[in-house]
This record gives sequence, C-alpha cells and structure tokens, in this order.
Amino acid sequence: MKIAVIGAGYVGLVTAACLADLGNDVICNDIDSGKISKLNRGAIPIYEPGLDDLIKRNRREKRIKFTTNLRSAVESSEVIFIAVGTPPKDSGEADLTHIEAVARDIARYMKSYHLVVEKSTTPVETGIWIKKTLESYARKGVKFDVASNPEFLREGSAIGDFMRPDRIIIGVESKKAEAILTELYRPLGSEIIVTNINSAEIIKHASNSFLATKISFINAVANICERSGADVEEVARGMGLDKRIGRSFLDAGIGFGGFCFPKDIEAFIHISEKLGYNFELLKSVKRINEAQRLLLVKKVEKVLWNIKGKTIGVLGLAFKPNTDDMRFAPSSTIIEKLKQEGAHIRAYDPQSMGRARQLPEFKGVRFCKDPYGAVKGADCALIVTEWNEFKELDLKKIKKLMCQPVIVDGRNIYEPKMMKDLGFKYNCIGRA
Ligand code: UDX
Repeated sequence: MKIAVIGAGYVGLVTAACLADLGNDVICNDIDSGKISKLNRGAIPIYEPGLDDLIKRNRREKRIKFTTNLRSAVESSEVIFIAVGTPPKDSGEADLTHIEAVARDIARYMKSYHLVVEKSTTPVETGIWIKKTLESYARKGVKFDVASNPEFLREGSAIGDFMRPDRIIIGVESKKAEAILTELYRPLGSEIIVTNINSAEIIKHASNSFLATKISFINAVANICERSGADVEEVARGMGLDKRIGRSFLDAGIGFGGFCFPKDIEAFIHISEKLGYNFELLKSVKRINEAQRLLLVKKVEKVLWNIKGKTIGVLGLAFKPNTDDMRFAPSSTIIEKLKQEGAHIRAYDPQSMGRARQLPEFKGVRFCKDPYGAVKGADCALIVTEWNEFKELDLKKIKKLMCQPVIVDGRNIYEPKMMKDLGFKYNCIGRA
C-alpha cells in the first residue's frame, strides 16, 4: 500500500519503519527539517533498539522516504497516519492543535480518496473533530474515511511490540476503511478488534490508565509492606499468579514516568471531566505516583541524616531502561529535590546523559563516564533506572570507591540479604 506517516516522533518513526518492512511504500513527513535531513543522511534521531537497522534496510530497498513536504506525502499515498504530538497543556489537557493543523493541510492536498488514520494517542471524540475538519476543508467531491488505530508500543521494545502486538484496535465508520486496515495488518497475524472510533480512542486511554493504576496500586502496597515487615516482591508474585491479576506491571519502585502514562492519565482525567465525570480513581493514581518519587529522597535523608554537603551518585537517568528518553523521568524530580537540599550530584546513564545535560534540572550535575565514576567518593548511591548493567556491577569495587557503603535502590534490583552480607546499608522499596 502507499502510506504516508505524518510526524517522525517515536510512534511515527516506528510505524513508518515497520510498515515499510512489511512491504509497503512509506513516506514519512515531519515539519522539523533538521530531523528530516538527519534521517535522509541515515541517522536516527532517537535511541530505540533495532530501529536503526530497520530504517537503513528499508531506505536501501527504497520502501521508505523522509520529507518535510506534506503535500507530496499526501499526493503519493492512499492511507495517511497522523502521528504528530499531543503534548499536555499547562492544565494537563491534551493539546490537539497540531492534529487539527495537519488535518486541515491533508484536506487541502487530497485530490482522491484517502483513509486518514489517527495514530497519536488522543482523547475520545478527536476522530469526530478530524472528520469535521476534513469535511470543512476538502475539495468538493473528494471522498475520505477517518479511522482510529491506537498504538501500544513501549519504548525500548517498540519494534517487537509493533510487529507482535497482543491485539490491533481499529476504530472505523465504514466497511472500506475496515477492509484497508485489516489488509494492512494481516501479515502480523494478530487478533484485530474492530470498534467504532470513540471506543478505539477510549481503549487506548483506558489501557494506559489501567496499567498506571496497577503500578500505583503496588506502590501503595509497598508502603504497607515497609511498615509491616512484609516483602512486596513476594506479595506481587503471590498476587500475580492469579490469572485475573497477572504479574506484569506490579513492580514496585519510584513510579511511572515517560511521555505516555503521566500525560495520558492527565488527558483522561480532563476529558472525563469535560464529559461530566469526576475520575477520582485516576487522580489518586497520579498522587500516589508523585509521592513515590519523593519517597526516595526521604529514604536518602533517613540513611544520611542531613543531605546538605553530601555526595550522591545517581545510577540511571532515563525513565526506564533501553531508552534515552528523559521526558517525565523520575530522575528529574529526584535530582532537583536533592540539589535543593544541598547535595552534590554525580550521575551516570548509559544512554540519556546527552539529553539530561540540556535540561535545567541537571545544571551542576557531574556526569561520569561509567557507574564506578558516579559512585566515587559518594555518601550514597541511588538506583533510579534498572539498566541491566547495574545488575552486574562489581559491588566490592563499588563499596571500596564509596565514602560510605550506602545504597538506596528505587528499582529493587538487588537482594537485600546479599547486600547486607556484602556490608552495605541497603534500602529499597517495600522490602525489609
Ligand atoms: C507505555 C505503554 O506500556 C505502551 O503500551 C504505550 O503505548 C506507551 O506507554 P512506555 O511509556 O514506553 O509504554 O513504558 P512502559 O514500559 O510501559 O513503562 C512505563 C513506566 O512505568 C516506566 O517509568 C516504568 O519504569 C514504570 N513501571 C512499569 C513501573 O514502575 N512498574 C512496572 O511494573 C512497570
């Protein structure tokens, strides 16, 4: 099929690359000329395992092209995926102005039938607004359909998630749109759920909100475990074996970050309010998550007494492993708070230090070339992201390098008993 993907962000790039790999002709458009020229030189603007090779291969096979020219993208395609950003406004509501602007331009450039598919995560009823916008601006007689096809990929495993999804959601209003999208996704062999557009939009927000709820729930339970001497890892295992609950997304820690969960929860709370429903549950999920980040600072205080003048070695800055993404990363809040308290911060992350350096919260942080450099002379090492390389550290060496052998682990990557046997003062989440 001839496909245009508008927006070369995380979702857009992965969608474009994977659809090209399935044998389609894909043209990927973005207004950021710097990003497009980078892509046209063969460089990838984000770190995502496997994306580099996938794009290289498909560029070589001439199945994927990058352009800043939206008109040519529309003219050379039949199916258009809108994957532009829906960032939060100050109020937390999703900003849909980019979606509207793109829909208006697509309408102006369409000369024949197009299927316009909303791929970005958007509040319910966005599809209806896209349709109204296309109706207002399209040339007379030009036919089109609108569909919602939310993406569930996770950063760090995005290609696998796209190619082997648990399910594919297609929200449509016509048989023609259903047939096109079913045919497009047929090679993936996954179950396809066909709904109306509003249901598809809600499936996306409800799924992310539910996963975030699971995380806040286990973090709340972790707080009870700490106070009672129970072990949250055992509790999560015991709960998770119940098939109705499931073990995934029950890892207690410093809470969820990233560009999806925090933003989608906010947007879902807002759209619910607009529709006349007070989503109290999600407000609690958000509050628990915010408190969980600061819990780590309280733990540091508990073990070090005064934070002022102490050196803290932070291991991990990205919001989760296998990504360089710093958006809504818990590390920002934690480091900012520790700096306010007068700590000296040394930090190491395998991928995200380049991005972190550009953020104001990280001003004054000493970035180190490896984890050992980050903990050198430190009064406390703080585990913020559970990168695999931190699980395999030479802990005896770490102990020698530190000023005091104190580790506060926000991701529960070590066994408390082993750490105590090694002579560390070890404090983690929800475990004695
Ligand atoms: C998420 C959804 O999983 C994906 O379906 C959607 O398309 C986009 O949002 P992503 O943000 O890439 O994906 O990361 P994910 O792996 O889901 O983790 C989100 C956050 O939750 C991370 O900060 C992670 O550390 C945290 N998390 C996850 C926990 O704290 N505990 C868990 O058990 C699982």
